[in-house]
Amino acid sequence: MKRLTLPLLAVLVGAAGSNPGASIVEHGASGGVIPCRVCHGMQLQGNAGMGAPPLAGLPESTTLPALAAIAAGKQGKNFAMRDVARALTPAQRQAVAAYIAGLRRGPGS
Ligand code: HEC
Repeated sequence: MKRLTLPLLAVLVGAAGSNPGASIVEHGASGGVIPCRVCHGMQLQGNAGMGAPPLAGLPESTTLPALAAIAAGKQGKNFAMRDVARALTPAQRQAVAAYIAGLRRGPGS
C-alpha cells in the first residue's frame, strides 16, 4: 500500500497543474471554492455584469487584505464571494494572490 501512495499523490498533484494558484482560479477547490474566473472573467479581467472587479495584475498587497476583509464581512456585498474568501485556506489565498499578481492587466482594467 505504501508503495502505491507516492505515485498516486504525484498523479493527483500533476492533474491539478504545477501552479496551485492557477488551478484554484480555473477549477476552484474543495470546501466551496468556486473557480474565480466564473465571476471575475476568463482572464480575471473583471465582469461588470456580475459586479466582479478585475483581479489580473493586482499586487498581493491588495489581494490578501481584500480577501481577509471580505471573509470577515468588512468589505463587499456579495455573499458568494464572501463564502469563497472564507473557504480559502491561508495557503490557498497566498497561492492565488501570487498567481493574480503575475497576470497581465487586461485592457480597461
Ligand atoms: C460568485 C462569484 C465570485 C467568485 C466565484 C469569486 N468572486 Fe471575487 N468578487 C466577486 C464580486 C461580486 C466581488 C465584488 C464584491 C463587492 O464589492 O461587493 C468580488 C471581489 C473580489 C476581490 C476584491 C477586489 C478589490 O479590488 O477589492 C478579490 C480580491 C476577489 N474577489 C478575489 C477572488 C478570488 C481570488 C476568487 C477565487 C478564489 C474569487 N474572487 C471568486 C465575485 C466572485
